[in-house]
Amino acid sequence: MCGIVGYIGYRDTVPVLLNGLRRLEYRGYDSAGIAVWNEQQIDVRKAQGRLANLESLIEVSPVEATIGIGHTRWATHGKPSHINSHPHTDVHRTFSIVHNGIIENYLQLKDELTAKGYVFVSETDTEVISHLLADCYTESVFDAVQKATKRMRGAFALAVLSIYEPDRLYAVRYASPLIVGIGVGEQFIASDIPAILEYTRDVIILNDGEVAILTRDGVEVRTFEGQAVDCNLLKVDWDVSTAEKGGYEHFMLKEIHEQPSALRKTLTGRIETDYHRIKLDDLGMKVNDVKNIERIHIVACGTAFHAGLIGKTVLERLLRVPVQTEIASEYRYANPIITANTLVIVVSQSGETADTLAALREAKRQGANVLAITNVVGSSVAREADHVFLTWAGPEIAVASTKAYTTQLLGFYLISLYFAQLRGALSSIQIGDYIAALQQIPDQVEHILESFESFISYAKQLNEKNNLFFIGRGTDYGVCLEGSLKLKEISYIHSEAYAAGELKHGTLALIEEGTPVVALLTQDDLFEKTLSNIKEVKARGANVLAIANADHASLRDASDAQFFIPQTNALFHAITAVIPMQLIAYYAAWLKGHDVDKPRNLAKSVTVE
Ligand code: F6R
Repeated sequence: MCGIVGYIGYRDTVPVLLNGLRRLEYRGYDSAGIAVWNEQQIDVRKAQGRLANLESLIEVSPVEATIGIGHTRWATHGKPSHINSHPHTDVHRTFSIVHNGIIENYLQLKDELTAKGYVFVSETDTEVISHLLADCYTESVFDAVQKATKRMRGAFALAVLSIYEPDRLYAVRYASPLIVGIGVGEQFIASDIPAILEYTRDVIILNDGEVAILTRDGVEVRTFEGQAVDCNLLKVDWDVSTAEKGGYEHFMLKEIHEQPSALRKTLTGRIETDYHRIKLDDLGMKVNDVKNIERIHIVACGTAFHAGLIGKTVLERLLRVPVQTEIASEYRYANPIITANTLVIVVSQSGETADTLAALREAKRQGANVLAITNVVGSSVAREADHVFLTWAGPEIAVASTKAYTTQLLGFYLISLYFAQLRGALSSIQIGDYIAALQQIPDQVEHILESFESFISYAKQLNEKNNLFFIGRGTDYGVCLEGSLKLKEISYIHSEAYAAGELKHGTLALIEEGTPVVALLTQDDLFEKTLSNIKEVKARGANVLAIANADHASLRDASDAQFFIPQTNALFHAITAVIPMQLIAYYAAWLKGHDVDKPRNLAKSVTVE
């Protein structure tokens, strides 16, 4: 989830690249860089931190050119640093590239290229591509791109500049978005439309497996196999702010819809389907340490804490190890009981939440082995934990967390299966079945998102309501807590999440004629129990929306409206079940005209106690 920009034309390239990067800074901001052809060589400038640092560097050390590429980075492989920032080059600077995506087989390619004498300077997967292109080059850059793309596995959007063809830029797309902007005497490359809107509104959206060759006079698109592609020109009529949100009205809605691709990224490179294996060796956990785990503490705040509640169930079911999920602000003062074989898992999207960080430090002080699940490479949590699982969800701009949460859940599934694999708690056939189910989740989320309109009508019914209940059992209860938090934080409608069986021990008196209740039933073994709780609230006049994993006549009879999510393994329903709740929260807030992305009294990263 970084930003790419490229330019060839008659203007001074550097301001064009910097303007484009400024428009993309919301996509990544831990470092930025540009590479240009200055008529003699490829000249590179890069700087860690915000774009302003790169701008200051260029002021001190200016460069002039009419062709170049630029990048703003959100780290995945390798910490944010000068050396890891893009553009990357081969040793002789014959090629310079910027890259979005992940090269799954980069370690294997790195070994092969190192054996041939190529010297690597960064920790990134991207650097492999520049050396690979140099290695593949014989007669033309297109030929090198063809050969290199055959070797690369994973996702890649590339802008390529080469001294061999200094009057051309190449844009290469596979499983990561890339567009080409068409001008008069100038052409552009960008990962997102806002980067080039200032200069042109004529755009070609590249498809997977296509390469665009840009000259000052025009653009030619070919497939990786070399066949010419007839492209449709798209006229963009969005303003810049709409374009930044990918055409969505708010970042939150964009991020809700990004979940299928975010989840696919979380899975990337972590599954060996042929061998029915989870591949998380980069956690760096010793097999014996995993085998010796006797108890697990999961510690987090807010939405991340809710992910931890589901994580507890999954870890306990698969490993039969006791797990407790704790709110970080409580844990840090609770003098937790940590033994030599306690694993502490901290979960934090930002990796900077003060309470979570303090809990991590307390756990480490007591000698715990700490595994962090985070979205931000190089964050404090990532740096201080012993082991890190990166969710690779890309930057989350909206304050209300959506894609960070679902990718955290997926992280828990992968980690639980990985531990089960190392501990021999599951056979490879069982792991294979779980893997097959995991791989379907992104498509299932996509399928649910297609029904977004049903949730607009449901949200309309909430407009006049001041109170709502979410009920569910087992993992459904955890998902209800998250659904309730989402609704409260952006729509300001009060809601409560209840373990369905607990309502009658407490606030059932608050259910009256027309009180909306969202009931979640995705656990077959608990279906009848929750159904009877639905009947309890119906008897008091509640209006019940049931979200379930299968259509039952009894459920249709007992509830007022139903929404069915696709069937999967019961442990994995949490990801799909939360999508309707995110949409309900979003549309309820939107109908009330709230500033959805910046709800009142809430910050994206809570770095104070
Ligand atoms: C809610 C939300 C917060 C965060 C919480 C922890 O939508 O975003 O509840 O989940 O502040 O933040 P991180 O995950 O950055 O530690």
